[in-house]
Amino acid sequence: MNLTPSISAISSASSASSASSISSGPSVPAGGALLVSGASGALARQAIALLQQHRPDVPLIATTRHPDRLADLAASGVSVRFADFDQPDSLASAFEGASRMLLVSTNTVDAPPRRVTQHRNAIEAARRCGVQHVVYTSFATAGAAQPGPIAADHAATEQLLREGPGGFSVLRNAFYAELLLATLPLACRSHRLPCAPGRGRMTYVARSDCAAAAAAALADGFEGRRVLSIAGEEALDAHTLAALASEVLGVRIEAVETAPDQLEAAWTGCGASAGMARVFAGIDRGMAKGEMEVRESDLRALLGALPPCEPMDMRAFLLAHRAVIVAPPSAAAVAATAS
Ligand SMILES: NC(=O)c1ccc[n+]([C@@H]2O[C@H](COP(=O)([O-])OP(=O)(O)OC[C@H]3O[C@@H](n4cnc5c(N)ncnc54)[C@H](OP(=O)(O)O)[C@@H]3O)[C@@H](O)[C@H]2O)c1
Repeated sequence: MNLTPSISAISSASSASSASSISSGPSVPAGGALLVSGASGALARQAIALLQQHRPDVPLIATTRHPDRLADLAASGVSVRFADFDQPDSLASAFEGASRMLLVSTNTVDAPPRRVTQHRNAIEAARRCGVQHVVYTSFATAGAAQPGPIAADHAATEQLLREGPGGFSVLRNAFYAELLLATLPLACRSHRLPCAPGRGRMTYVARSDCAAAAAAALADGFEGRRVLSIAGEEALDAHTLAALASEVLGVRIEAVETAPDQLEAAWTGCGASAGMARVFAGIDRGMAKGEMEVRESDLRALLGALPPCEPMDMRAFLLAHRAVIVAPPSAAAVAATAS
């Protein structure tokens, strides 16, 4: 299944080109705060930092299961509140006073349908509290006919948003480029990058770009319903990635085409744990089928004038993370791989 074209504007009012920049967008409704859930997570923290930088005029609410970890945010004027989507009773006071909410999808991926229940609790509480617009971090394949187990949660959450009242911005994020911080260190050490036969491609996106897109969608004042594709602008097959990584990292890496049923063994042969090998092999098989390629992205339009206005390309990403990728394995990583 290809994702082309992956963008579907749900309401006639929605369009990527209508997205204005975070710094010049219409102001949020009077008296309303912008709320970011899951505020101790990586994406949420980056989104909050951007909002503080570019919209210091708008009050911010940060909800989390771990308020103690966000003392710095509280000290900087953000209203930090406890919220756990597994505890619906915690949400009314947490969401009070918010007009727009960034609902960061939870990482509860191993116990379906728990994640969808969590998101339902959050959406229903937000509606009861008068939140007028929900920005949701979905996944690239959520619109596919057969989205697979992880994307199925996102598809179900999108449906909950569609079924009820209120505006929304569904951000279908591509695979984080940060995935490469798990695979490329193995490739650097083994000089091999296992891949399925063929030239299947993957469109990556830097998590920082997803955070910037989320911040922009939260602050731009858009009131309708839109579904946006958040992806980088290059789709790379494993051979192209290996060549680029070799050049940028200064380490020889060769893409090794491997029969689909041998991919897990190939990854464990490179030093991956059994669990990680299973994940990587599944991604490789998806790439071969064209499931990981996103051919259109709304990222650039959504970011507008927000610095950095350029989506991060793969060369820049590899350079930025070079030290982590080529670092020798830690003792803990070696022990985990051996067990
Ligand atoms: N596109 C991709 O390739 C990709 C890759 C990985 C993950 N994701 C998705 O994107 C999300 C954000 O990514 P990330 O890198 O920021 O992940 P992360 O650092 O692992 O953060 C996990 C997030 O889940 C929240 N959460 C977990 N359980 C919760 C609960 N019961 N109630 C409320 N919030 C809960 C956490 O909030 P608190 O701990 O602050 O409560 C935190 O924001 C992930 O959670 C996942 O759904 C996408």
